[in-house]
Amino acid sequence: MSEKAAYIKVKVFRFDPSAETAGRFQEYLVESKEPLSIMALLAKVHEADLTLACRTSMCFKGQCGSCLVRVNGQDVFGCTTLVKPGEAVVIEPHSKFAVIRDVVVDFFQPAGNRKE
Ligand code: FES
Repeated sequence: MSEKAAYIKVKVFRFDPSAETAGRFQEYLVESKEPLSIMALLAKVHEADLTLACRTSMCFKGQCGSCLVRVNGQDVFGCTTLVKPGEAVVIEPHSKFAVIRDVVVDFFQPAGNRKE
């Protein structure tokens, strides 16, 4: 007997301020039978689409803050926020900081360069 595949629907904000005047959302389907952190989810999306910019070198303990993103309208730590198979999430850059590219922000610049 085979187990049914389980997926997480991911909608990710895409924006390159150096080349675009406005951002957009791109959808992905990530197969997973287990809950994943937002950072693990972004890493899987990045594996499938190398054009997605996301941070990968972090503490994964909710301490360094380099994983800060906005998920379903709330600013969160991406390393400690879990998504279950069957759920859908919208991932955007953290609302307080300027976008460098996609969901990667500049922690030294306030938000203000982002348009949808
Ligand atoms: S990876 Fe350090 S706080 Fe999330």
